[in-house]
Amino acid sequence: MLRFLTAGESHGPALVIIVEGLPCGVEVSKKRIDSELARRQLGVGRGERMRIEKDSVEILSGVRFGKSLGSPIAMLIRNRDWANWSKTMALEGAQEVEAITQPRPGHADLAGVFKTGQKDIRNILERASARETAARVAVGALAKTLLSGFDIFILSHVVRIGACEANIAFTPKPEDLKKIDASPVRCIDEKTSDAMVKEIRKAVEDEDSLGGVFEVLAYGVPPGLGSYTSWNRRLDGCIARALMSIPAIKGVEIGDGFELAGMRGSVSHDEIFYTPSKGFHRETNRAGGIEGGMSNGETIVVRAAMKPIPTLGKPLRTVDIVTKEQVFAFKERADVCAVPSAAVVGESMLAIEIASAVLEKFGGDSLDELMHNYQGYIETLKG
Ligand SMILES: Cc1cc2nc3c(=O)[nH]c(=O)nc-3n(C[C@H](O)[C@H](O)[C@H](O)COP(=O)(O)O)c2cc1C
Repeated sequence: MLRFLTAGESHGPALVIIVEGLPCGVEVSKKRIDSELARRQLGVGRGERMRIEKDSVEILSGVRFGKSLGSPIAMLIRNRDWANWSKTMALEGAQEVEAITQPRPGHADLAGVFKTGQKDIRNILERASARETAARVAVGALAKTLLSGFDIFILSHVVRIGACEANIAFTPKPEDLKKIDASPVRCIDEKTSDAMVKEIRKAVEDEDSLGGVFEVLAYGVPPGLGSYTSWNRRLDGCIARALMSIPAIKGVEIGDGFELAGMRGSVSHDEIFYTPSKGFHRETNRAGGIEGGMSNGETIVVRAAMKPIPTLGKPLRTVDIVTKEQVFAFKERADVCAVPSAAVVGESMLAIEIASAVLEKFGGDSLDELMHNYQGYIETLKG
C-alpha cells in the first residue's frame, strides 16, 4: 500500500515528504510533479501568497535515472516565503515576536489551544494551514503516474462556488481537462465560470470569503478494488476519509449520494446489462462507480463540499485567549476562495486511494510484476 508522511509549517523553511510503497520502475519526473503543483496554485480568489510561492519539488531519494527504486522516496518543497518569516518562525533562540491570541472562528486555533495548552496560536495554525496540501499534490503526482500505466485517469472540476452552481448535463471526460484548467475557476461551463469569477470578485470587495463544491472523477478503474469483507477496506470509506481530510472539506458524497436518500429503490440503482462487446455494464451511474465497498467498473464519481475560508478581511468576533476580552479574530493574508485548488488536492487524494487499492489487489515489488498481475486479472474478467 502507498503510505506517506508530510512535515513542515506553512511559513517554515520547507515541506518534507516521505512516500513508501511505490514499486520499482515507476517513472518519477520532477517536471510532472511541478506541473501538478502549479495546478494547485491556479484560480481566481487565491491570496497574495500564491504570487510569492512557485512550488517546485526537489527529489532526494528513492529514485535513480528517473525511475523509482522501490525504496522510500523523499521529496522537499521549499517555502520561498521563508525569507520573510525567518524571525517569526526561527528554528532556534527565544521568541521575539508577539503571540497571536485572538482565535479565528472556523479555524484550528481555539480547539488547538484547548488541546495543546499553548499560548501562541501561531504554534497551531502553522501546521493546520492548507499549505500542507502542496505536499499531498506531490504524492498525488506519483500516484497518477502509476495509475496512468493502467489507463486510469483522474480529473476534477468545480461545480459550485458560493451561490453559483454549474448546470451541466454531462460528465467531463479526460480530454476536457485542458479546458477545465484554462478556466480561472476550473469550471467547464463558460457562462457559469464567468458568474463564479464575478461572485469571487464581489467577495474580495466585501472582504468576505466563499466555499463551493468540486467533483472528482476516476476513469478506467477496474472492478474489484477495495473490499466488502472489512469495514476499513471499503473503497468508498477510504475515499470519503481521504477527501474529508482536506482542510475545509465538510461533506463528501459518492455518486448521487444525498439525492439517493430521497428516491425509491426502483429508480435509484443502476440496472445491469451485458453485451459481448461491452461485457457487463450499466446505462446509469448513480452509485458513482462503487457498490459494496468495491469499484464496479464504472467511472468513480466523488463530490466534496468546501466551507468558506475562515480567515476574513472583516474578522468575526472572538475571545482573546489570555485577557478573555471580546475582540475581533486576528487576520493575515489569506485566500478568498480556494475551491479550484482544493479540487486539485481532491484529485491527488483520490489518486492516492485508488493507487493504494491497486497495489493492495495486484501486489508486486516492481511495476512489471504489478502489471502482469493486473493483466491476468483483466483476462479472468473476460471469461
Ligand atoms: C487549498 C486550500 C487553501 C486554503 N487557504 C486558506 C487560507 O488562505 N486561509 C484560511 O484561513 N483557510 C484556508 N483554507 C482552509 C483552512 O485550512 C481550514 O478551514 C482550517 O485548517 C480549519 O480546518 P477545517 O475547516 O477542516 O475545520 C484553505 C484550504 C484549502 C484546501
